[in-house]
Amino acid sequence: MKKIEAIIRPDVFSEVRQALALQGIDGLSVTEIAGCGRQEGRTGLFRGNEFEMEFYTKLKLEMVVEDSLVDDTVNAILTHASTNAVGDGKIFVLPVEEAIRIRSKERGAIAVN
Ligand SMILES: Nc1ncnc2c1ncn2[C@@H]1O[C@H](COP(=O)(O)OP(=O)(O)OP(=O)(O)O)[C@@H](O)[C@H]1O
Ligand SMILES: [Mg+2]
Repeated sequence: MKKIEAIIRPDVFSEVRQALALQGIDGLSVTEIAGCGRQEGRTGLFRGNEFEMEFYTKLKLEMVVEDSLVDDTVNAILTHASTNAVGDGKIFVLPVEEAIRIRSKERGAIAVN
């Protein structure tokens, strides 16, 4: 099993979500995050004061999938999260030791499907 962490633009989320569902990826976690890559800082407003804004709102998707689904999952994200502009985000693939469905106590790949 692998965990795929994808940092994407919020506005591509619904398209990415649909593409993942077509790959059979239904279980995922989504977190709104503040992140920065290599973009230049830009100016923003906070409570009426201008400040140098170096962080952008992104979504972090986390999906644990069995190894055989990694390539299709990554490709779906690459296809649907790309705008060909800086700031499109990143994908990280991490090893996962174990997964356990609490209700049934099932372990391993069966617990992530
Ligand atoms: N090395 C990293 N580790 C963890 N999160 C990262 C890393 N690099 C980027 N991110 C996250 O990804 C988001 C988008 O990064 P971004 O797409 O701007 O990367 P980049 O390397 O600057 O590429 P680009 O040149 O396409 O902008 C960031 O806001 C941050 O949340
Ligand atoms: Mg960047």
